[in-house]
Amino acid sequence: MESDEKVLSDVHIESENVSVNNDYTVSRFWFRVLPCGSCVSTCTDSEERGGVTDSDGDMVLSRRTNTAREEDEEQYVLTIAHSLSTGLKDVGKQLWHGSLVLADYLIHIQDELQDKTVVELGAGTGLAGITASFFAKNVLCTDVGEGVLRLTEHNLDQNWNCLDLMKKKNYRICQLNWMSENLVTDCGKYTMTEEDISLLNIAQIFIAGDVVYDNELTMAFFNTVYRLMSKPPSKSLYISMEKR
Ligand SMILES: C[S@@+](CC[C@H](N)C(=O)[O-])C[C@H]1O[C@@H](n2cnc3c(N)ncnc32)[C@H](O)[C@@H]1O
Repeated sequence: MESDEKVLSDVHIESENVSVNNDYTVSRFWFRVLPCGSCVSTCTDSEERGGVTDSDGDMVLSRRTNTAREEDEEQYVLTIAHSLSTGLKDVGKQLWHGSLVLADYLIHIQDELQDKTVVELGAGTGLAGITASFFAKNVLCTDVGEGVLRLTEHNLDQNWNCLDLMKKKNYRICQLNWMSENLVTDCGKYTMTEEDISLLNIAQIFIAGDVVYDNELTMAFFNTVYRLMSKPPSKSLYISMEKR
């Protein structure tokens, strides 16, 4: 793909846009927080290995095996600011399907997140990091470039306490560039601090939505993951992606 070619996430074709200003469109995403384990139905073994896929090769997720009546469940809304189509270098300013699936899965494993430090790689608009912040002790959202990190921070600020207005702020935002040898690279107010490095060192859970779309970046991403996850304590990585 040419670097100045525009791309548009399918998410924005389907979502409900509520306002548009010069910089960003704001879309609403409604969700329910069901008790742990009841959001996504469990797959059979054969589904996990192969799975039912749509015509693009993406997994068809079966959902809502719980018996709770929808009208009895409280509904919440996230307001996510994002760009509509962008060039490849700004794809983080759009919201991608990988993050929707990841956010859904994080609700599903909410008990596993309790008391944990979660690091998001390639956070973009921050939907998965926002969802993690509802349940985890701390969340560190990372991406590259001041423009996208400002958007990540804006969306976290707008949504992080939507389940619990009394909650103490539990997220930080900083640059972590997979293409750099150095962990700390200059990015103005988003330059990684000692406090961010401490969170990186103690994190037990890493998450990343839709970060596999370019061969060179994918190599850099997995090198970064290897570097961050090779040290104790033991860690898990949850990654979701759209097959392209
Ligand atoms: C397709 S977007 C996905 C954004 C978000 N996770 C989502 O699913 O909506 C890919 C993300 O990877 C980030 N990214 C690209 N190159 C990167 C790099 N070298 N280091 C860190 N993040 C990078 C982009 O800025 C962007 O936020």
